[in-house]
Formats: sequence, structure tokens, C-alpha cells
Amino acid sequence: MCGIVGYVGEKVALDVVVEGLRRLEYRGYDSAGVAIVTNETLWVAKKAGKLGNLEKLLAEEQLPPSGLGIGHTRWATHGGPTDVNAHPHISSNGRIALVHNGIIENYVTLREELAAAGITCESETDTEIVAQLVGQQVSAGLPLVEAMRVVCGRLRGAFTLVAVDSETPDGVVAARRNSPLVVGVGEGENFVASDVAAFIEHTREAIELGQDQLVSITPDTVKVITFDGEPAEVKPYHVDWDLSAAEKGGYDWFMRKEIYEQPRAVADTLLGRHDANSQLTLDEIRISEAELRRVDKIIVVACGTAFYAGLVAKYAIEHWTRIPCEVELASEFRYRDPIVGPTTLVVAISQSGETADTLMAIRHAREQQSRVLAICNTNGSTIPRESDAVIYTHAGPEIGVASTKGFLTQLVACYLLGLYLAQVREVKYGDEIAEILRELSAMPDAISEVLDDIGPVLNLAAEFADKRSVLFIGRHVGYPVALEGALKLKELAYIHAEGFAAGELKHGPIALIEDQVPVFVVVPPRGRDLLHDKVVSNLQEIRARGAKTIVLAEEDDDEVSRYADVMIKLPRVSTLLQPLVATVPLQMFACELATQKGHDVDQPRNLAKSVTVE
Ligand code: AGP
Repeated sequence: MCGIVGYVGEKVALDVVVEGLRRLEYRGYDSAGVAIVTNETLWVAKKAGKLGNLEKLLAEEQLPPSGLGIGHTRWATHGGPTDVNAHPHISSNGRIALVHNGIIENYVTLREELAAAGITCESETDTEIVAQLVGQQVSAGLPLVEAMRVVCGRLRGAFTLVAVDSETPDGVVAARRNSPLVVGVGEGENFVASDVAAFIEHTREAIELGQDQLVSITPDTVKVITFDGEPAEVKPYHVDWDLSAAEKGGYDWFMRKEIYEQPRAVADTLLGRHDANSQLTLDEIRISEAELRRVDKIIVVACGTAFYAGLVAKYAIEHWTRIPCEVELASEFRYRDPIVGPTTLVVAISQSGETADTLMAIRHAREQQSRVLAICNTNGSTIPRESDAVIYTHAGPEIGVASTKGFLTQLVACYLLGLYLAQVREVKYGDEIAEILRELSAMPDAISEVLDDIGPVLNLAAEFADKRSVLFIGRHVGYPVALEGALKLKELAYIHAEGFAAGELKHGPIALIEDQVPVFVVVPPRGRDLLHDKVVSNLQEIRARGAKTIVLAEEDDDEVSRYADVMIKLPRVSTLLQPLVATVPLQMFACELATQKGHDVDQPRNLAKSVTVE
């Protein structure tokens, strides 16, 4: 989950690399560093802490101009966030500078081998081992790309590696296994990076690198080979994200901007999914209709917020298709010896497409002959590349570590999948599907309505600055919304928060209720009165015990307003689609409270945007 950039071309490499690192800093910010090559000499600058610390260092110690450079922002795995452990790492012969994203699992053995050869490492990192090994190979006369290929063959684990050699001043070499790497193809210049945000202001032409592949770039060439040294097939694609989409656009936080982008993101994710007769056409699904008709179980695997999207998906998919749908934490899935096989459809939900837990879960599923469908927001990322089918969410880059538009568009993709399965298996008539699609097409406006009236939520945040615990309850699809609301508060305001199924309160958690304990209550639409009435009873129970009730309910739901200390009004939508509107006030509440507490909303402590280690 580190940020990596490499450049070769006519521009000042240092400027291109540092600017690229700035757009990738959300991938990790424990330290940052750069290396450039000029006159057969390696120049390196690196510093613990955020990118700003490195920029201060570069202002003090000017590096010479060069058209070749690499850079790195780190999320520490092996070795603490110190200057010495910061990347790039340099081989002891002074020739190789190398940066790395991932974990080398056999680094201890390799370090012992180096020590036996008289090479001692100065850092605690697994990365330096690789730099030393590549340094050994170039000292033995191998060109950089061959040196990297030989070393990659000895590594176990997950890695994106990018290196330069002081004695080959016109090229960057990179390699990847189980970790992200994309190539940016320019005119007289080329780039490698962890994701396209690093170079889209220079070029929108990109190449996705496959598993166990190396790429060597010079100003005019891009050569891709396999770890076996064979030429590799490349898949060029055009990046359609605007640069402004990766900027804050006048908001204080990327997260706030992304909350406001949700109507657009939901609309874009719905675009082009059905024809004039509401016949769904999910053309990225490369699984035959016959196979989909044979599916007898669905298992959703995901982490964090994406897992909560899966919990919502379960209600919709089971209701619409009558296929049993389990939802599993990806980190638990492969260790519980799951019952999966050729008629199981495993659905991996991941915004980044690089989450290691989810990636390992789908690999396990495929080993059991299951078909895998990815729901992902990052084109060219590893999880969709390793799936049989993909539904891309079109949320655009989600820079804030706390997922918002990623979550809502995951919900939309899950709804589309459920409707597609119902269509293929003919368990819903075309007009029933058309009706739900019509409701979905109205959701961007419903979300905008919530945002237009978000004032009370922002005012509420001011009262919570000193709260030490907040509870969230909901029923049916309101339960995953309660879990997501609690997660947002934990990861942004660093406040203990817990989500419960409202029906569970009486089985224990109600003991937590005392005077002024704040409880957010997600009240279902009145379309399913059984649910609505039950939640009203729960509301009465906690109010009678002194809870401060913040009630999210339909704007004209007078039955609940009498039990609400604070009422957050929601537009009237159908039960299964309510998470699309009920989640938004909870996202904004957490964002505003964290802002008022002076936290870094976009880069919360201890977290990174893409968790690419297990
Ligand atoms: C959500 O706000 C968190 N950032 C985290 O739970 C995230 O949803 C989880 O790590 C999964 O990430 P992914 O969707 O990129 O796989």
C-alpha cells in the first residue's frame, strides 16, 4: 500500500516524481523518498513522515537536474517509519536505487545469504535486501532488467519493485507480483506508478502490467517481459479520469468532495447498463448465461466498508433472485475451509482492487473451481484482472481513505448484479426489473436531496466533540448502514462507535443505554410496516432509558418524530434502496466531527487507502 512513481524523459524527473507522489500520498505516508541518476551518479533524498518533510529536505539539498528518477511514499510493514527505513534503498556498490510496495516473505533467508557474502544491510526493511541482490547482479555484469528478473525469481511474497542503475542512465525497470503497477505511455517520456493518478496530467495512455511481469522503460520504448524472460502480451487502455477529479475541487477534504460527488458517481455507475427495453447488458460479465443459471450459491467476500456493501447486497440479491447469498469477511474466508465449487459464484467487492485479503480470497475460490465476479472501482487493478468477470463502479478516483462514493457505487453494482441474475434466471419479469431500474435512476436526485438539506447534520457534529461512545442501530438493510456509520466514526473521529441490529438490543447491548448516550437510529421506510413498527418499538425502549436519539427516517414519518431528539429527514425510497440515502448523513456527520476535532480526514491515523498486505 505504498505509492510508487518512476519517470524517464525530457522533463525534470524530480518535479514529475514529487508531483506524482503527492497524488499517491493517500497510499501511505510514513515516509517519502526520491532517487535520480545523472552523470553515472545516483542521488537520493528520503525522509520519515509525510511528503512535505521530503520537500523541505529537497529545498535544502538541491539535487542536480535529471531526466530519470523514481520515488516512493511508504506505509510501514517491515521496520518503523524512520529515515533509514525510508525508500529508495541503495545497493552497497552505490549503483542501484530501488523502491518497493508489498512484503518479501523470504527476506530473512536472503539477508543471511547477503551477510555471508559480506554485505550488511543498514535498514530493517525487506526492501533493502532486494536492492542489495540486484546490486550484486549488476556487479556481475548483468544489465538492470536481467538483474531484476533473476532476483524476482528468488523472491516470495507480494511486490512491486522499481529500480534505476547509475550506469544505465536512460532507463527505469519495474516488476510486479501480487501488487499494483501501471505504465504511463507518453511522447518521448514514459512512467511507471502504483496507479494512474500519478501521471494522468502527462498522459492518459496506460498499460496494465500482468502478474509476474517486468517492464523496462526509456524515453521512447516500453518493453514488457515475463519473469521467465519471454515477451509478454500487453493490454493498453485509455484513462478517462480528469485531473480535476483527483483534486479537491475547492472542498476542505477529498472525502467531503467525494461525498458530494455521490449523485454523479451513482448516475455514472448506472450509465449504459440497460437498453431501451430495460434489458440489462452488463457486458463486462464474461460468464455465460448458462453458467449463471447453474449458480446455486453466492458468496460475497470483502473487507471493511466493502463488506457492509455485501451485507446490503445479500438482502437485495436473495429477495430478487432467491439464490442463497452468504457474505464473508475476506480475511476469514479461506481459513474456514469454505464450501465452494463450480456452481458457486464468488463476488469480490473492492474499491481499490488491490486489497490483499480479498485478492487471496478469490484466489482460493478459483482454486476450488468457483467463478469469480469482481465489483471494483479501479480499472486495471489486480482483483478484476484475476476475476472471471467484473462490474466496474464508475465513481472516479476515491482519494479519501474513508470510503464514501466507493460504498454507494458498490451498492449500485450489487443491485445491478442482482437484477441481472434475476433477468438471466427469469425469476423476475422485464417490467419488474424495469420498475426497479426506474427507481434506481431516481436515486442520484434522492441523494442530492439529502445533501441539499445536510445542515442539521453539520450542526449536530458540534455537540459531539466530547462524546466518548456512540451507538448505531438499524434493521434489515438498515443494519449494515448502522455498521457503516459506526465504522466512519471510528476511522475518522477516533471515537468508539458500535453498530447493532436493532432487534439485538434486548439481548445485551441495551445495558449500555443510560442518560444522554447518543444513539443513531436508522428507521426503515413505511413500505414494510412490520420492519418500521419494530424499529419504532426499539426507539421507544432506548428513549425510555435516557438515550439521546438521532433518528434517520422518511421526511413525513410523524410516528417516529415524537421519539427523536434530532430528526434527520430522508427522501421516501423503497426499502432495499434506502442505504443509498441513509448512509450519506452518517458519512457527513463523521467527516464534520473529525474536521471539528482537527483530524486529518483524508489520511486518518494508522490507516491507508489500499491495504495490500494480509
Ligand atoms: C473504509 O472507509 C475503509 N477505508 C476500509 O474499511 C476499506 O473499505 C477496506 O479496506 C476495503 O478496501 P477495498 O474496498 O479497496 O478493498
